[in-house]
Amino acid sequence: MSELAEAVLADASAAELLACPVPARIRAAHLRREDIGIFSGDDDPDVRRSIHVGEVPMPRLAPDEVLIAVLASGINFNTVWSATFLPVPTFSFLARLGRQDPWGARHDQPYHVIGSDAAGVVVRVGAGVRRWSVGERVVVAPAYVDSEDPATHQDAMTGEQRAWGFETNFGGLADFAVVKASQLLPKPEHLSWEEAAANTLCAATAYRMLVSPRGALMKQGDVVLVWGAAGGLGGYAVQLVLAGGGIPVAVVSSPAKAELLERLGCQHVVDRSTLPAGPAGMRDPATWRALGQRIRATAGEDPHIVFEYTGAETFGASVYLARTAGTVVTCGSSSGYEHQYDNRYLWMRLKRIIGSHGANYQEAWEVNRLLRLGRLTPTLSRVYPLGQVGEATRTVQRNEHLGKVGVLCLAPKAGLGVSDPVRRAEIGEGRLGLFREAGALVPAPIG
Ligand SMILES: NC(=O)c1ccc[n+]([C@@H]2O[C@H](COP(=O)([O-])OP(=O)(O)OC[C@H]3O[C@@H](n4cnc5c(N)ncnc54)[C@H](OP(=O)(O)O)[C@@H]3O)[C@@H](O)[C@H]2O)c1
Repeated sequence: MSELAEAVLADASAAELLACPVPARIRAAHLRREDIGIFSGDDDPDVRRSIHVGEVPMPRLAPDEVLIAVLASGINFNTVWSATFLPVPTFSFLARLGRQDPWGARHDQPYHVIGSDAAGVVVRVGAGVRRWSVGERVVVAPAYVDSEDPATHQDAMTGEQRAWGFETNFGGLADFAVVKASQLLPKPEHLSWEEAAANTLCAATAYRMLVSPRGALMKQGDVVLVWGAAGGLGGYAVQLVLAGGGIPVAVVSSPAKAELLERLGCQHVVDRSTLPAGPAGMRDPATWRALGQRIRATAGEDPHIVFEYTGAETFGASVYLARTAGTVVTCGSSSGYEHQYDNRYLWMRLKRIIGSHGANYQEAWEVNRLLRLGRLTPTLSRVYPLGQVGEATRTVQRNEHLGKVGVLCLAPKAGLGVSDPVRRAEIGEGRLGLFREAGALVPAPIG
C-alpha cells in the first residue's frame, strides 16, 4: 500500500497528506480495449471475464480537478453496461473525450477505470479549485460537466456532460480517483464509507425524475408506481415518494422483496411474479389490465406518476397504467431501448412522457442533503472487496441483489468512517441496516 493510502487510513492531517508523494500507479477495476468482442455470440456475457483488477498509471491532475483516496465505491447498472461492452464499448466515449483537448486526451487509454460512485478523502486539489481542501471527506456526484458550455448554466444535464467512470476514465472502483471539483459533496458523516459511497448516482437520478421541476414534479398525495422498487433506483424512489408525502406503489418480483418494501414503509406492493401473465408477459395488454386492477385494489386509484427505467418489457404497461393527465418519467431501458406502446392511451388520456438523465450538481446536492439529514437512508445490501468487484457486478447483472451493492477500496473492512454517531443513533441501526439485513439472507463474501 502506498504511503499516501496509509496516511489516509491513519486519519492524517492535511499537511501530512500533502507531505506524502502521490503514487505512480493505482490499483483499479478496469476494462481492456483488447477484450472488446470477447462476448460475441454469447447469450450470457459474464462480467467477471471482462472486469480486471490491477494497476494502471496515475493520471495528471487538471486545474479544476481533485484527487480522491477512495475508501469505498459501489456498483451501478452502468458498470454492467460497460463490462458487457453494450450497447457500445465505452472506449468509444473515451476516444471522443480524448479528441476534446489535452486534458481530455488523458482519458483515451487502452484501459478504462470504471465506477460512478465513491466516498473518500481529498488528497490533492488542482490549482483552480477554491471550495475544497485536502483532508475533506466527500462523496462524488457522477455528472462530469463542461463549465464552459453555456447550456451547463441553464441545466448541466442539457450541456456537454458525461457520466464519470462510464463516459470518462479514472472512475470510482479504484484506490484513487480523479474527479472535477464540481462533483464533490460533503460525506454524510453518520454513514460508514460503504454506506455513503453507494447512494449518489441512483438517489440523485431518482430525485431529478420525481422531485425536480425538470422531472415529474411530484406533489403531496400523488400515487407513484415504482418498477423494480427494491433495486438501485427503486429503493431511493420509494423513499423520496414517502418523504414527499406521496403514495408509492412498489412493483417487485419476489415475496422477500415485497416484505422488504413493507418494512421500508410502503403500504402498496405488487409482486409481479404473481400476476396472471398473458402470453407476452408484461408486454401483453391482458397483463397491464391485471396489474392495473391490483393497483386500484391496493391504492384505490391509478398512478399520477410512473417511475420507469425497465424499458421495452414494461413501457407499454407504464403508458397504459398512468392516470389521465399522468406522467411517465423514464431514465433507462434495462430490458431493451426500442419501446412499443399504444399511443391512443397517451394522446386520448393527455399523458406525458418525460426523459430524464442523471442529475445536475444542485439536484445531487439536494439529495445528498436529504441523506445527511437522515430523511433518506442507504439501500446498501452487500459489500465486496475491490478484488471481488467482478462477483459484485455479476450479482447486479443477474438481478440477484437488493438495493445497492457496495465495494470496499482502501477501507480495510466495513463499518469504518462514521464520525457522527449521535445522528446515527437518532436514525437507528434498524432503519440504516434494512437492506443490509435483507441482503444478509443471501450469503455474501464479507460483512
Ligand atoms: N439515465 C440515468 O441517469 C440512469 C441512472 C441510473 C440508472 N439508470 C438505468 O436504470 C436501470 C436500472 O438501474 P438500477 O441501478 O436501478 O438497476 P438495478 O439495481 O438492477 O434495479 C433494477 C430493477 O429492475 C427490476 N427489473 C429488472 N428487469 C425487469 C423487468 N423485465 N420487468 C420489470 N422489472 C424489472 C428489478 O426488480 P424486480 O425484479 O424486483 O422487479 C430490479 O430490482 C438501468 O438500465 C440503468 O442503466 C439510468
